[in-house]
Amino acid sequence: MKNKLHIFKSPEELANEFANRLMSWVEIHSGDEFHVAISGGKTPDLLFEILAEKYADSLLWQKVHFWWVDERMVPPTYPESNFGVVQNLLFSKIAIPEENIHPIKGENTPEEEAFSYSQQIQEKLPFENGWPVFDLIILGMGDDGHTASIFPDQMELLVSEKICEVATHPVSGQKRVTLTGKVINNAANICFLVTGSNKAKRLNEIFDIQPEAIYLPASHIKSEEGIPEWYVDEAAIQK
Ligand code: 6PG
Repeated sequence: MKNKLHIFKSPEELANEFANRLMSWVEIHSGDEFHVAISGGKTPDLLFEILAEKYADSLLWQKVHFWWVDERMVPPTYPESNFGVVQNLLFSKIAIPEENIHPIKGENTPEEEAFSYSQQIQEKLPFENGWPVFDLIILGMGDDGHTASIFPDQMELLVSEKICEVATHPVSGQKRVTLTGKVINNAANICFLVTGSNKAKRLNEIFDIQPEAIYLPASHIKSEEGIPEWYVDEAAIQK
């Protein structure tokens, strides 16, 4: 798979560069609203901290609408809540209108929230090819090759006809609500942020187009142009 690959010495260097790239995307965006869907997990924490530190007073937050790629179905006060983490690291420190923040409500019933969130996306986002279009989707990748909450044992979520689906973490059994593969692949820009040596095995399988890659959800993420952008550190692509 052809990739736009950006390699950095450290997670800090990656997060700084991506923060600048994100804000320049927002700045040059012609529309009044820039719709970005963000992933959870630990990798984006550095990005949120840097955005809060360097862009706290930016007027650009007026046009940024934050959505979630996926959410763990727990209340926002729980440490695993993807929304709760961003609220603490970023939203509590920047001048962003509350109506620009569109959390998946982890305290709700998974099936009801999957439907409700799909409705909100349908109402607020433009559509192309019959699917909503996010201006940017920021993804992580698990060390099992999952992305969003599309796990290797739930590959059907890559081709679901729904905007959101309920997923189940294969180890913990935790319920998640996730964007589906067709929505993710319909985004104008898709960027993976992947750091750490524990991702190297799967990342190399994907970049080297090894046969095993077909079983990794992250390898099925391709925008129309077929090229998600990968922001990785050296540890994540060591052989
Ligand atoms: C989640 C994420 C998930 C994450 C990967 C990588 O809610 O857990 O959306 O897809 O991006 O598991 O997680 P780390 O960044 O913690 O390695």
